[in-house]
Amino acid sequence: MNRREFLVGAVASGAAATVAAPKGEKPAAPKSEKKTKAAEPSGKLIVSAPVLQNAAETSMGVMFIVSADASGWVEYSKSPDMKNAKRAYSGGHGLMEVNDRVARIRLRGLEPATKYYYRIGADRIEFNGGYKMKNLGPEVDSKIHSFTTLGASAGGSFCVINDTHDRKPILNMVLTKIKEIRPSVVVWNGDASNTSETIDTALGIFVYPHPDHHEYASDTPYMFLNGNHDFRGRFNRSLDTLMMFREFTERRPEYAELGRNFVQRLGDIALIGLDTGEDKLDTNKHFAGIFRMKEYRELQTRWLAEAIETPAVKTAKFKVAFCHIPLEDSRPGQNPGDIAPDDESPQYKNNWASWQRTCARMWGPLFEKAGLQLLICAHQHYVRFSPPVPGRSWAQLVGGGCSVVPGKEQFYPSVIQGRVADGKLVVTVHNASNGKITFEKAFS
Ligand SMILES: [Fe+2]
Ligand SMILES: [Fe+2]
Repeated sequence: MNRREFLVGAVASGAAATVAAPKGEKPAAPKSEKKTKAAEPSGKLIVSAPVLQNAAETSMGVMFIVSADASGWVEYSKSPDMKNAKRAYSGGHGLMEVNDRVARIRLRGLEPATKYYYRIGADRIEFNGGYKMKNLGPEVDSKIHSFTTLGASAGGSFCVINDTHDRKPILNMVLTKIKEIRPSVVVWNGDASNTSETIDTALGIFVYPHPDHHEYASDTPYMFLNGNHDFRGRFNRSLDTLMMFREFTERRPEYAELGRNFVQRLGDIALIGLDTGEDKLDTNKHFAGIFRMKEYRELQTRWLAEAIETPAVKTAKFKVAFCHIPLEDSRPGQNPGDIAPDDESPQYKNNWASWQRTCARMWGPLFEKAGLQLLICAHQHYVRFSPPVPGRSWAQLVGGGCSVVPGKEQFYPSVIQGRVADGKLVVTVHNASNGKITFEKAFS
């Protein structure tokens, strides 16, 4: 890990180590402090458009990239002329965050279903040690962006993209379609990454996904859910330093680590986010004993059991859940992800989970209980719809992937759109490679 990556990780996790001093000696400064250089006072400080994250009823995450040590902030107002603007700062635990790559700001106390206008700024900080800090002044990106918070009285549609795998032509197709639809919120349903060993790889995925779409998430918030690939690589082990975990007050303390799970209302629709984790068992020899997906899934089961009893879900006419790996695949030969210890069996063509039987057994009955209409998944790279059957009252829709395969008509990059029309939940699949609607279904 290089110095910049270390700083991103250390600042975000509060993990900068202190060194115990022998009696009578001055404490030694952590190595990272000794190495911290002064910010360069020239050049642009804010070097990306803002990326809206973790849309919610009363909060919103904003992230952008800086070129030197800086402390970021966001000014926001209900008025387009920024009258009575409030300011939210990065950090928030007594110290503002100083970071030389990323500024992450959480707007809190917002009103539900309300349009806000905002602009980003950052103070350039010269940080030469505990007593040698200088604020060199602010830089403001004058462009005003806007977003609308979620909530039971919010309107508009949601969209889902998945399995983009950092393939730029594919990202261009799906982001162009999103721009055309202008949804209230987008669920990025995993496998945005291949592997991210460094922050620079992750920036190329989440901040600069395509040269024509630098503002892809500046006015449309994204709710990111991990795919199996988003757990791979050194940097992805701390991806929350870039793609923030959700606001911690959204869940009870015992679910503190479930930073990706959500229940949010978009009008009459309850959106429920789940994380199926890796597509190999924790015991798989390739995983070095450093994955704990089993416990992670079990914790989410307990969270889901409570989530479906909340007013946000119970009072919603429609319930739609999202997770990366499908929970239904009755076709023979599809690896169900529970073949111990290494996911290998001559019965299955792949030695990784094509679908997640463990999660299906834990979450499926809770979906039944909640009256879920639809589960939207990803991972298989082709569009597939499974209608309800006796014993499973919810339907499953799998989104497409990162390639167009001639002769295989289900293989295309998809944008799934969901909205309420005429008292029904209407779900549409757009083929982003040619603009055609390939599937549409109304749920009552
Ligand atoms: Fe994928
Ligand atoms: Fe996947």
